[in-house]
Amino acid sequence: MPTADRQPPTILAIETSCDETAAAVLRGEQELLSDVVASQAELHAEYGGVVPEIACRAHAEAVVPVVRQALRQAGVGLEGLDAVAVTRGPGLVGALLVGLSFAKALAWARGLPLVGVNHLEAHLAAAFLEHDLEFPFVGLVVSGGHTALYQSPRRGTYRLLGQTLDDAAGEAFDKVAKLLGLGYPGGVVVDRLARQGDPERFAFPRPMMGSGRLDFSFSGLKTAVRTHRERFLKGLTEQDLWDTCASFQEAVVDTLLAKARTALERTGAACLVVCGGVACNSRLRERAAELADRLGVRLVLPRPRLCTDNAAMVAAAGLHRFLQGHRSGPDLDAVPTWHLEDL
Ligand code: KG4
Ligand code: ZN
Repeated sequence: MPTADRQPPTILAIETSCDETAAAVLRGEQELLSDVVASQAELHAEYGGVVPEIACRAHAEAVVPVVRQALRQAGVGLEGLDAVAVTRGPGLVGALLVGLSFAKALAWARGLPLVGVNHLEAHLAAAFLEHDLEFPFVGLVVSGGHTALYQSPRRGTYRLLGQTLDDAAGEAFDKVAKLLGLGYPGGVVVDRLARQGDPERFAFPRPMMGSGRLDFSFSGLKTAVRTHRERFLKGLTEQDLWDTCASFQEAVVDTLLAKARTALERTGAACLVVCGGVACNSRLRERAAELADRLGVRLVLPRPRLCTDNAAMVAAAGLHRFLQGHRSGPDLDAVPTWHLEDL
């Protein structure tokens, strides 16, 4: 039975696109009733990156307990749901299929509407969970798999302004952390060590700056850190390591924000949303706030928990699409490469 007429709709969302199995229950656009994330990071750590087969198996084991926990924490039974949302792509195909199969079976068994969600739209939708946004806004999505700038003239519509031509920013953080022997996933460790370092000690390149284009490139920066690391064959002192982390991070942040600034100026947008796992980075958050202040634009940064992969953001995107009348059929398939501007 759907909830009573006047109660806002309640949606269960499931996310399994990469290495987090997550489920959340959202009532209306901002009442987050539960948000459960089971991370597989430890399973992938010894390989220094996500291993698709391991991810699929771990999702298959975790999806039922994670959904149960989300419903229990929300205090909502299956009869209290109005819809089910699930990440359809982009992501690892096998990993996506676990969430999709489960969501389709649940929706079919309970006669609930199903909504397939784009993972990148979900990252941006995290901003709507805590804020009412003005349009148009510029969205900078920075994660382990993606780095792109969008202009959103209205909810659910996106124009691609620029994207990375090689590595994503999060991937660069993870690869540099690996080069420096800091483990996986490394972004959060680089962030922590960089706090004790000098961001100006080493002059790493700022690729594609001054090109006038809004695209990014991070593979040259990663190579520069590798060459720098080789110069220190005898080993980096602790201070050298901190300074390397700080200088690398500053190069990434400089590049991201220079392009975001150009995007704001070109579009005339008065609001900047920064989201995705790298939006947890403390230096990026600090410098984005300074930039927004200087330009007189509003900055919306979801809290860190909502920046890394989670199902609350999938619920936010899914609920909005559900309210707009979107419905997916039982033939809903995974879309490993799915551009936001094609929605
Ligand atoms: O959004 P996300 O959880 O997954 C993807 O959709 O890719 O992003 C994960 C990425 C990883 O590359 C991770 O190292 C990075 O976000 N990350 C960070 C920080 N926290 C997570 N990068 C820099 N600083 C952080 N504090
Ligand atoms: Zn993500």
